[in-house]
Amino acid sequence: MLPSPVTNSTDWRTPPEARPDLNFVVRDLQRTFLRVADNLRWYEQTWLGVPIWQLPEDLVALQRIVFDADPKWIVETGTKFGGSAIFFASLLAMMGRTPGQGGGVITVDIHETAEARELLQDQPHRFAPLVRQRLVGDAKAPWMLAAMRATIAADPGPVLVFLDDWHDGDHVYAELQVYSKLVTPGGILIVADTTFEDLADTPVVVPSEKYPDAKRSNPRVALKRFLAERNDFAVVPDYTSKGISNFPDSVLRKAG
Ligand SMILES: C[S@@+](CC[C@H](N)C(=O)[O-])C[C@H]1O[C@@H](n2cnc3c(N)ncnc32)[C@H](O)[C@@H]1O
Repeated sequence: MLPSPVTNSTDWRTPPEARPDLNFVVRDLQRTFLRVADNLRWYEQTWLGVPIWQLPEDLVALQRIVFDADPKWIVETGTKFGGSAIFFASLLAMMGRTPGQGGGVITVDIHETAEARELLQDQPHRFAPLVRQRLVGDAKAPWMLAAMRATIAADPGPVLVFLDDWHDGDHVYAELQVYSKLVTPGGILIVADTTFEDLADTPVVVPSEKYPDAKRSNPRVALKRFLAERNDFAVVPDYTSKGISNFPDSVLRKAG
């Protein structure tokens, strides 16, 4: 006899809201896994042959978010080796987008790595044509925002933003002020690495010049401050809160 068809239904499970004790276990596991993940460099993955700094679980979550949001433009801060730019470009390509249709990925980083230059420019990866703009400089510099706005204005459409550069609290808060304006009504804004706060009291994140006090100054603190001041953005819990994630509480949707 053939087995019953497998479905994606969760109807048979206890609703999470009815079992807060289970939510606690998931949260606890999440914290433990992240510490292990950082120690073992679990986040150092590759996507289509390109180095990318995201947990495998987050790549699946990002795929769900991009598919549902169906953005014309994906703006990301933190190009690093170019992996997340190629990841987002490949999702758009799988969703049927071609470079000739307009839209695509805009990526910025304060440093240009040799890997990113090779991948996105000198020997372009097969999905590099969907990375439409690559900028080098401080992600919150006014000229940077102006350049992005000009690109988007020439070919307008839904915008999704992924903030994944310097995880300093004041920096992320300043970015939220400006990048939230790029997000179109109903669009998505993601702040990566809110779990940085959870790692701050572990040997994984020790005080440094770049991060003197990660417990007090981090993406989650910035996000809470931003959300306390705004009623046009709200957290969408569905995408990441049930699993292991480096941004379990920071997928936002703009009203509209
Ligand atoms: C966590 S890595 C990005 C990982 C990449 N998104 C990925 O998934 O592979 C952070 C990047 O942010 C960049 N960065 C740091 N400060 C920045 C700033 N003020 N503006 C823009 N980029 C910055 C760093 O140079 C680094 O490449």
